[in-house]
Amino acid sequence: MKKILVTGAKGQLGSELKKLSKDAKFDFVFTDVDELDITDIQACATFFDEVKPDFVINCAAYTAVDKAESEKRLAWKINVDAVKNLVISCSLHDSYLIQISTDYVFDGKSPTPYVERDLVAPQSEYGKSKAAAELEALSYPKSLVIRTSWLYSTFGNNFVKTMIRLGQERKSLDVVFDQVGTPTYAEDLASAILAIAGKINSGEKKFVAGIFHYSNEGVCSWYDFACAIMKLNELECKIYPIETSDYPTPAKRPKYGVLNKAKIKSVYEIDINHWFSSLERMIDSLNRMETAE
Ligand SMILES: NC(=O)c1ccc[n+]([C@@H]2O[C@H](COP(=O)([O-])OP(=O)(O)OC[C@H]3O[C@@H](n4cnc5c(N)ncnc54)[C@H](OP(=O)(O)O)[C@@H]3O)[C@@H](O)[C@H]2O)c1
Repeated sequence: MKKILVTGAKGQLGSELKKLSKDAKFDFVFTDVDELDITDIQACATFFDEVKPDFVINCAAYTAVDKAESEKRLAWKINVDAVKNLVISCSLHDSYLIQISTDYVFDGKSPTPYVERDLVAPQSEYGKSKAAAELEALSYPKSLVIRTSWLYSTFGNNFVKTMIRLGQERKSLDVVFDQVGTPTYAEDLASAILAIAGKINSGEKKFVAGIFHYSNEGVCSWYDFACAIMKLNELECKIYPIETSDYPTPAKRPKYGVLNKAKIKSVYEIDINHWFSSLERMIDSLNRMETAE
């Protein structure tokens, strides 16, 4: 059986891949920084020699968007230098590399959903590091870069879990309504990645390198997203729409980050769920996990 190495496996996306791995026709090796620190080139070389992966899914990243403004060097070390290490190791073993990127590589000024060939113009250190990482990955012909947006999961910390907690503690919350994008359930993204790897592996689809956009379907603001989270959790907390200027953050975020998914749908024949139905599924899973505890 072909082998998939997952880095950053304790994060949101890595954990979803682990959950789905039981039903996938691959052998998996899951690593996080304790088993394989991808910033360590020697550790990568040794690990790859041992494991000889056919596919590498790089879920490891520095994802603290605001902190990256003051920790630029660390963000670049994890997001860019480490991807260079993975490219070197992948090329020595002829492995496919699947690198995950973000809508934060764009400036958010587009009037229509971003396509893969649109020019990047990141506004934050995190976005700049992820754009540089894309170039590192794309220097290797056996790489796929999948850009996604507003990732959430039952694993780890994210907007959905924060809203549920605050919704239980407070009577009202202010949430920005002038940043628009698409939430993405990491389980859906994990499933799409495994479907692509499976189709390449079985020969059902020819490998096509390059950038692909994947988020859930639909469009909303963070305000709409928060309202939906409250409604689905039957929380009374009232959500008030505010402007970004009323909620200053160290990192600038794109006002518009909607991704056009036509390419991934046609090239790899991937079906995509609407963000609201995926949010419903995630909240059901969370509730089931809480009942089981
Ligand atoms: N989260 C979002 O909203 C979002 C949106 C668009 C795109 N993305 C991209 O999607 C991908 C997955 O994101 P995610 O939310 O699943 O990230 P995450 O939950 O922050 O997980 C990242 C994982 O990587 C680990 N890691 C950090 N440094 C490492 C190193 N040197 N070696 C190995 N592992 C290391 C982290 O460990 P520690 O926790 O110990 O640092 C963590 O377990 C990332 O590429 C991210 O940029 C995320």
